[in-house]
Amino acid sequence: KPIYILNGPNLNLLGLRQPEIYGRETLDDVAAACTALAAELGLELRFHQSNHEGALIDWIHEARGAGAGIIINPGAFTHTSVAILDALNAFDGPVLEVHISNVHKREAFRHHSYVSLRAEGVIAGFGTEGYLLALRRMRTLVAS
Ligand code: DQA
Repeated sequence: KPIYILNGPNLNLLGLRQPEIYGRETLDDVAAACTALAAELGLELRFHQSNHEGALIDWIHEARGAGAGIIINPGAFTHTSVAILDALNAFDGPVLEVHISNVHKREAFRHHSYVSLRAEGVIAGFGTEGYLLALRRMRTLVAS
């Protein structure tokens, strides 16, 4: 069963938008690094990005039964979306939450995450390396 890595709104502009916060690596760079590490770890990967809440929810539904685990950077939906939380609550495998920036060092509205109510673990502020750390942790979680 594959691991789903899901990315929310504006992450298609990674490397271009606010590089002082999010770095200069693009989402294609992140996808390539994750694909290489997944192969090394013997994990199958589905890597997606959408600016639309419903598309993210559809991939979470697709992962029900078909996915081993979900790593999600919900972007700003982290702080707003009960619907994404509900979809994740309907998924029975492990969930890890990733933020490129340290959301706790930023505006107060970024300090609360609906997704954290469901996630086994959260990585924030490790830049795009956070995705690779989450993938290593996911291998442990799906093996146990
Ligand atoms: C983010 C943090 C969110 O607060 C923000 O809305 C994003 C990206 C991050 O990866 O640091 O779009 O999830």
